[in-house]
Amino acid sequence: MALIAKNPTETKAWAQLQAHFEKIETAEMLTWFKKDAKRVEQLSLEWEDFYVDFSKNRVDEKTVELLLDLAHEMQLEQAIQAQFNGVKINQTENRAVWHTALRAAEKPKEVQQNLEQIKIFSEKLITGEKKGYSGKAFTDIVNIGIGGSDLGPKMVVEALQYYKNHLQTHFISNIDSDHTAELFKKINPETTLFIVVSKSFGTQETLVNASTIRSWFVEQASQEAVEHHFVAVSSNLKAVQDFGILPENTFPMWDWVGGRFSLWSSVGLSIACALGYKNFTDLLAGAQKMDSHFSQAPFRQNIPVLMGLISVWYNNFFKTETEAVVPYSTYLEKLIPYLQQAVMESNGKQTDRSGEPVNYQTGTIVWGAVGSNAQHAFFQLLHQGTKLIPLDLIGFKKPLHPNKEHHGILMANFFAQSQALLTGKSAEEVEKEIAGFTPDLKKRQAAYKLFKGNKPSTSILINKLTPSSMGKLLAMYEHKIFVQGVIWNIFSYDQWGVELGKQLAKKIIPQLKEKEINQQLDASTQKLLKEFLS
Ligand code: F6P
Repeated sequence: MALIAKNPTETKAWAQLQAHFEKIETAEMLTWFKKDAKRVEQLSLEWEDFYVDFSKNRVDEKTVELLLDLAHEMQLEQAIQAQFNGVKINQTENRAVWHTALRAAEKPKEVQQNLEQIKIFSEKLITGEKKGYSGKAFTDIVNIGIGGSDLGPKMVVEALQYYKNHLQTHFISNIDSDHTAELFKKINPETTLFIVVSKSFGTQETLVNASTIRSWFVEQASQEAVEHHFVAVSSNLKAVQDFGILPENTFPMWDWVGGRFSLWSSVGLSIACALGYKNFTDLLAGAQKMDSHFSQAPFRQNIPVLMGLISVWYNNFFKTETEAVVPYSTYLEKLIPYLQQAVMESNGKQTDRSGEPVNYQTGTIVWGAVGSNAQHAFFQLLHQGTKLIPLDLIGFKKPLHPNKEHHGILMANFFAQSQALLTGKSAEEVEKEIAGFTPDLKKRQAAYKLFKGNKPSTSILINKLTPSSMGKLLAMYEHKIFVQGVIWNIFSYDQWGVELGKQLAKKIIPQLKEKEINQQLDASTQKLLKEFLS
């Protein structure tokens, strides 16, 4: 069954949410906490090694109830079943959205075979059984890919570097030749494996980078050596072969796995090589647990469902434009760009499932940075700026390294921020703080030291950063994106919006080469090209 096409703003629940919003728009969360001793208990979820506290959000029981009504009216239950059953819910591309099958307890046969291929390959590489052209074991891996063929594996390898083996991993994505030039300084062709990752094997940046790297490699080694050092991950086997990579060195992908949801597939080959196959499968198993939770838990106790719905609440009723994500772990720095693709490429859509323009806001803008660094960068605006920005704070109970003192300070900051956002600082508190100041100084500072508070945040407290908890966290965000797309009545799994720029770049390339600017271009672009060529 395809997803229903229904304007969410025409549902009964939407109208009720609007009326409810008008009542509680300015309500103070602190008042709710005072009135309701059970607020924390009711608005937090404990699941496996996760504790998710939604209580510091601008929602009360009624809000949650109405959001759940909205989910039912938009047939979220049926949509989840359709996704998990491999129905072609990516209707604009006539494809299933079945990344959950890659990590399911009972995997399709081709996935099992693929995992076996990844296992054998990664183990041979790690143990040194697989050798380079000169007989030496491999020391470095270079993943050549962009977008979903880069951001996911790069983020996971960095996030889980604590579990890493001796293989050095490098990620080349940008067409910028400075990127490849820097790589060449670091690697030895005799001991480096190149993984060309492109689902389509038609992405300009990846193909140009792969060709440049192969030429460099052939110059250093030989043409014959290529087959020992280049492997590919793709669903376009013909193009891979044309590039010169042997079928036995090719790892398959399927059209039912979207690029930005593909790190669980062969696209994660660099993860399996850098962290070992066991850690890779632990990552998959963690994601599988979140999948079971998402597909089976009642919506009121369902972490991704509540996250998605609360985000819709802010986006469409409070009219917030952005959401920030602040992980209190340096390891998770690359979670932000990863989420930016996952969230914005999926839900940045203007056309609904009937092919009509939407008349409400869709995809949120995601941004953020790791804490506590972020506190010294943009938190000023969160606390005292004029914009309402919902925030996810992600923290871990246990550090990976034994320095407990640092971890205590780090997590004290994690707790302090959500507290400060909630409580703010009142005029009376400011008054006390500046009691000893001169009248002149008091006058100059009092108003500026005020914090209004009542700023929303969700705290996600996880026991420890492990392959399994990382799998759960990523699957949680994937499902949040799904929930939002279903509610917004859009197709979350295509990305036509990135095509135009690609097409135009292809037309500009010959103009730059031939130094002949097309007079039909708009005046601004013509002048920019002239400046570039001058
Ligand atoms: O341009 C966007 C995009 O299609 C992404 O969705 C995808 O992850 C990326 O390009 C890379 O695509 P491919 O794996 O086919 O090279």
